[in-house]
Amino acid sequence: MAEFKEAPQGASMVEKTTVWFENRFPTAFAEYKKHLSEYYAPKNFNFWYFFGSLALLVLVIQIVTGIFLVMHYKPDANLAFASVEYIMRDVPWGWLVRYMHSTGASAFFIVVYLHMFRGMIYGSYRKPRELVWIFGCLIFLVLMGEAFFGYLLPWGQMSYWGAQVIVNLFAAVPFVGPDLALLIRGDYVVSDATLNRFFAFHVIALPLVLLGLVVAHLLALHDVGSNNPDGVEIKAKKDASGKPLDGIPFHPYYTVHDIMGVGVFLFFFSAIIFFAPEMGGYFLEFNNFIPADPLKTPAHIAPVWYFTPYYSMLRATTDPMVNVFAVLVALGTVGALLKVRASGMGKVAMIVGGLVVIALLKTFDAKFWGVVVMGGAVVIMFFLPWLDYSPAKSIRYRPTWHKYMYALFVVDMLVLGYLGIQPVSEVYTLIAQVGTVFYFGFFVLMPWWSQVGEFKPVPDRVTFQPH
Ligand code: HEM
Repeated sequence: MAEFKEAPQGASMVEKTTVWFENRFPTAFAEYKKHLSEYYAPKNFNFWYFFGSLALLVLVIQIVTGIFLVMHYKPDANLAFASVEYIMRDVPWGWLVRYMHSTGASAFFIVVYLHMFRGMIYGSYRKPRELVWIFGCLIFLVLMGEAFFGYLLPWGQMSYWGAQVIVNLFAAVPFVGPDLALLIRGDYVVSDATLNRFFAFHVIALPLVLLGLVVAHLLALHDVGSNNPDGVEIKAKKDASGKPLDGIPFHPYYTVHDIMGVGVFLFFFSAIIFFAPEMGGYFLEFNNFIPADPLKTPAHIAPVWYFTPYYSMLRATTDPMVNVFAVLVALGTVGALLKVRASGMGKVAMIVGGLVVIALLKTFDAKFWGVVVMGGAVVIMFFLPWLDYSPAKSIRYRPTWHKYMYALFVVDMLVLGYLGIQPVSEVYTLIAQVGTVFYFGFFVLMPWWSQVGEFKPVPDRVTFQPH
């Protein structure tokens, strides 16, 4: 056992109590130092660095409001819809709790998308932060699952038919598809059994996984240290006592700094909750105020906005699009044969690989490839640390045209997102197809384009103007 400390002569009650606790729970004090008062974060964080702490805040809001919703919600196909209406009309402050939770879902995705984009422009996924990024991508996947399961619970028309469409997608998986869809639904159609299992996943299974992943995300980050807008490693330059010259203790500097971000966030969050909780049908879809009716399919089924870029890619994968993929794979194989230095056997392997992929593309139907494209759009993010060959981490020191690439990427996601909400049309499908090719091209060709252009010299120390 560690030595017991003594409170100094004349110590106040607070000091004595602190020492009492420190003697009995030293781990808490050591962890507080490691992660807050002696965690040295770069001093040049800008507003992009608010979104990590904001994601934590939204996570807490979702858990706390979720607990209160569960006190009144009934996970039963005959009662669910009415229990949500009861929360909205009769439970004291129930409307507020429900709107906080529904707005919180959209806020979570806004904050996380901005947080991910920050990671992309500052190269925060690169060595030594690959695991921080991978834990982040896993969080994103689980978050998507969490939102999807939660959306069924109000048992409105969109809950019901949205779940029906998405679960049916799994039926397109070759060989095991129909059984897989049955396993997910627990029935031949979306039903009470589906509602019960989605409830279990939404309120306990995925939140536990999410919390575990967030802890892993932060522990991994604190082991390697934070990146910053200059993409300079602050640990490379330390003072005599071993503290990074460009680092400042997270607490109190960034705890106070983050309170400002929280203030701005809560301003917008409350404005939406009090004045536009449905956000014109984007945060709460109008059709979801109609109770689920298994006998009446809504004319137009669209997921909530945060899924629509991926939904667009799914719908863009038509039969002609699969042919385009086959041509792209053929071109990619020829390109690899010409560019990559490989032995005779290696070249044969490339040709065989290319032919196998083309044969598979032609064997299974477009619906299945749509599911692969949709899943692949998220999975490809995991590989980002190994796709970026740029000599500079941060966008600040990369060629100007790289900035346009990232801007185009954002525009592409917004356009795909918009198209995902619209009914299908020929022109829209064509635009979505171009958008899908750009999305994958951005990542697949990154090893090449990330090295092209004139790079600016990266400074030794972070750039920082006190204000
Ligand atoms: C529940 C969701 C999440 C929470 C609560 C969360 C929390 C945090 C926090 C508190 C930080 C440190 C502060 C900051 O750098 O902003 C951070 C850093 C980071 N996060 Fe997340 N995060 C989440 C999701 C994600 C996702 C989805 C990704 C990427 C796919 C991601 C990638 C990163 C990266 C790369 C860093 C290091 C940034 C740097 O040092 O420049 N995070 N996260």
